[in-house]
Amino acid sequence: MSQPLIIALSKGRLLKETLPILAAAGIEPGEDLGSRKLIFDTNQPDVKFIILRAVDVPTFVTRGVAHIGVSGLDQIAEQSLNDLYLPLDLGVSRCRLMTAGLADQAPPSGRRRVATKYTHLAREYYARMGIQVELIKLYGAMELAPLVGLADEIVDIVDTGNTLKANGLAPRELIMHSSARLVVNKAAWKTRHESLAPLVKQIEGALA
Ligand code: PRP
Repeated sequence: MSQPLIIALSKGRLLKETLPILAAAGIEPGEDLGSRKLIFDTNQPDVKFIILRAVDVPTFVTRGVAHIGVSGLDQIAEQSLNDLYLPLDLGVSRCRLMTAGLADQAPPSGRRRVATKYTHLAREYYARMGIQVELIKLYGAMELAPLVGLADEIVDIVDTGNTLKANGLAPRELIMHSSARLVVNKAAWKTRHESLAPLVKQIEGALA
């Protein structure tokens, strides 16, 4: 048998929103995804899921160990990886990458301390705006940084805005819109076209 087709998915909300789309395209988990396993059978013998942290999906697909995957555009843009083909916007996990700060405070006029895990996109954004920044890399709980005086501003994902509000913060500037994208390894798109092209078509059909 030829090597199975590997689909990289990410844990959490994105997984929940992606599974119904894949199911409508005919691919469903063949076992309980809640287990501690990382590679999962599907209802198709030649298709497997691997379940990763969202940040790692573009890496696995770029390096070709997964042939196709689902990743937020924010992650793809942050990592600015090549060798990825983005054929479809799945229209789920929509959010905005924004700057935010204390609701009752304007950002300082001089150099800003900015906490974010999106250091690449933040650096690009502030450079474009001509604003000098000191970037502070954090991996979570970004909203805490302005509250405890670690940063003047954060760059983070905003969906409902509830997390900002609950912490006395307010959104400031929009950096980019994001949503879940289908990502395909460019080499695999050529070498496994006979299995990937129909799959992308089925997913596109499922979206319609
Ligand atoms: C994201 C983001 C915010 C929150 C925004 O965190 O970092 O904290 O969602 O959503 P809201 O505008 O609807 O409140 P997530 O829960 O994805 O976890 P993370 O910190 O691991 O990224």
